[in-house]
Amino acid sequence: MSDWVRVATVDEVKPGSTLQVEVEGEPVCLAYTGEEFLATSDICSHDYVELHDGWLEEDEIECPQHGSRFNMRTGKVLNPPATQSIAPYETKVEGRDVYVRGPMERVK
Ligand code: FES
Repeated sequence: MSDWVRVATVDEVKPGSTLQVEVEGEPVCLAYTGEEFLATSDICSHDYVELHDGWLEEDEIECPQHGSRFNMRTGKVLNPPATQSIAPYETKVEGRDVYVRGPMERVK
């Protein structure tokens, strides 16, 4: 697992929106639910599609290509066509800065 990486300020991600950030060379989808920041790998497990272009609903992100949804706390896939989970990342806020580290282990 990586060290904490400062990826954004709290103002850069509006409530209900996502932002692609980079952690140790890997694209990460950072989301702000309006209450907390969540992060997962930005790449769908079904094909090489960036999830931050999809739709965030509470703690779920929907892939813009074929509609699989992933829980952003665990990375767990919630519906087909994707069948594999994606890696979740940890987040924290210090002052006005958002930090991410990971990836954590994927759930099956
Ligand atoms: S590329 Fe994401 S569901 Fe197909």
